[in-house]
Amino acid sequence: MFVSLALAFTAFRAGLALRRARQGRAAPGAPPRGVLLRRHLGRSKPAVVMLAIGFGAGPLATWALLDRAPFRTVHALLGGLALGLFVAAAVTGRRLEHGLGRDYDTHGAIALAALLAAAAAAVAGFVLLP
Ligand code: HEM
Ligand code: HEM
Repeated sequence: MFVSLALAFTAFRAGLALRRARQGRAAPGAPPRGVLLRRHLGRSKPAVVMLAIGFGAGPLATWALLDRAPFRTVHALLGGLALGLFVAAAVTGRRLEHGLGRDYDTHGAIALAALLAAAAAAVAGFVLLP
């Protein structure tokens, strides 16, 4: 989960670089948009997949290793919120990718909310660590 969150964070940074390029205020020496877009997609897609796999592994481990009923923790609640937002970011991102819409701000805002929810889930996850 640490690795997937770090990847999601770098995906977000690549997304912000794309935003600056789109608005014509790219940092001096920044790579062209195509490179930035490949970077964003190459990080965001695996990050969402890894988070979904981790989300499935969490309750399995709670049930199998801790012998406790799953989804009874604040961590699970925040994790569920985060995963939902990440999936929404992926859906809106795909629309941008395939030129079906130009709602950049919505995608960016959902992505930011997803990262914040994931950070909160991470904080709430530490007490569960063995
Ligand atoms: C997994 C599927 C995803 C796809 C297919 C996707 C695709 C895209 C595309 C096509 C753009 C527009 C680039 C442009 O300006 O032309 C974009 C922008 C952006 N993405 Fe994603 N994205 C995904 C997930 C994420 C995630 C997980 C995050 C954050 C954690 C994120 C954060 C951003 C941000 C901040 C922008 C800039 C928005 C703006 O220009 O205002 N994306 N994304
Ligand atoms: C780096 C941050 C994280 C840490 C340290 C962490 C740690 C943990 C631990 C120790 C457990 C208990 C597993 C066991 O029984 O051994 C757990 C369960 C779980 N985690 Fe995480 N986690 C993190 C991030 C996330 C994120 C981002 C999500 C959502 C995408 C998530 C979703 C879940 C879920 C759904 C459970 C099952 C909880 C339950 O059934 O009550 N976790 N996590």
